[in-house]
Amino acid sequence: MKLWGGRFEAGPSEVFERFSGSLHFDRRLADADIRGSQAYARALEQVGILSAKERAEIVAAFDALREEARTAAFFEGADDEDVHTLIIRKLKSRTGALADKIHTGRSRNDQVSLDIRLWLRDEIDAARVLLADLMAALLAMAHRDPHAIIPGYTHTRRAQPVLWPHYLLAYFEMFARDHERLGEARARVNVMPIGSGALAGSAFPFDREAIARDLGFAAITRNSMDVSGDRDFALDFLHASSMTMLHLSRLAEDWIIYSGEEYGWLELGDGVTSGSSMMPQKKNPDSLELIRGKCGSVFGDYSALFMIMKGLPMTYNRDMQEDKPRIFDAADQLRGSLEMARVVVETTRLKPAPPLAAVEESWAIATDLADALARNGIPFHQAHKIVGRLVLESVSHGKKPADWTAESLAAFDPAFTPEMARYLKPSEGIRTREIAGGTGPQAVAAALDEAEIRLAALRG
Ligand code: ARG
Repeated sequence: MKLWGGRFEAGPSEVFERFSGSLHFDRRLADADIRGSQAYARALEQVGILSAKERAEIVAAFDALREEARTAAFFEGADDEDVHTLIIRKLKSRTGALADKIHTGRSRNDQVSLDIRLWLRDEIDAARVLLADLMAALLAMAHRDPHAIIPGYTHTRRAQPVLWPHYLLAYFEMFARDHERLGEARARVNVMPIGSGALAGSAFPFDREAIARDLGFAAITRNSMDVSGDRDFALDFLHASSMTMLHLSRLAEDWIIYSGEEYGWLELGDGVTSGSSMMPQKKNPDSLELIRGKCGSVFGDYSALFMIMKGLPMTYNRDMQEDKPRIFDAADQLRGSLEMARVVVETTRLKPAPPLAAVEESWAIATDLADALARNGIPFHQAHKIVGRLVLESVSHGKKPADWTAESLAAFDPAFTPEMARYLKPSEGIRTREIAGGTGPQAVAAALDEAEIRLAALRG
């Protein structure tokens, strides 16, 4: 079926129909489309286009269609141009000529905007729940090894010792921002466009605020032309999704490395790893690699929609139909990756000995020694130089921090006082970093407590 045709002498070519049809993907909007149309029927009653009886008949028919639309049979053999057309055809088959009134004062342009917004709102809510579950799993993991020490890296080189929970809380912060960002995208999505018509505004005096309330929207859009040409809200969602995927991909990359033989810090659960068809010994981190890979797909979706929207003349252009595959794909990849990441975090165990050994075999405590000298009045640049010489001397003789004593340090440079030798032990330097946001044991314990409270609050 078509929702147009009167002004044409010939129908569309088979090639054009095949090329332009969107039912095979926008069918995912069926439920949102029906919910929106039910609210629209109520609005049509308010402006006198439908009687109470007609509205009741249409709403009831839509209730039945909502049920049917959950089954594949609903879409079988359909050759409609898009999901909106299909649903009106189905309405017609139930209510007859009455269905011809449903599109009064409405265009597919404001209808598509409404449907995507309804669909995305649910999708964002679901993603935020999954994100909170992942954050909870990170906190549980942090509680499991509260005192474990790992080397923190810059440039992939051992930099300074940090507590393992401090590292996990860094990801908690990234995901907390993502949760907030998805909430901000939701606020942009949660605005009601109906009443805009094709582009000029509907010629029927709808109470748009009432339609917004009916569908749970926080506000109404302010300009009908803007509505027709606007997919900013979808781009905001893709941005928030991309940021979340970016953080997931970095966690994935870390853990792929940390669980490999060269590091050996993490044991990934059997349930999230795969074997090799040829090499019997392999336990591959495929779950994490797929998260990393799917991040690329979501960035692609984001950039695709930017390219689709770029330079479009006002207002609606059919190019915009290409938005949906990207929105659906990003939402699917985001949800799948969040769920997968949660299971990986829940089933991964830290093996504390290798990362501690990595700290002790390196000169990651060098900054702690330089800081100790500086606290004792040595200008930092001098302190840096003294410790730099100590490291040079040590690495050229294969000496680790533990090979030094208070006496040998003082003999190396009189600036070292006996009590500074304690900083040869990584846990001592960590203890000096109780500054807010630092890796000191009390600061981290407080940050963990605070994170639990923040998580409970955002789970509401
Ligand atoms: N399937 C179309 C879309 O998603 C519906 C809007 C059609 N509007 C139009 N003026 N041709 O964009």
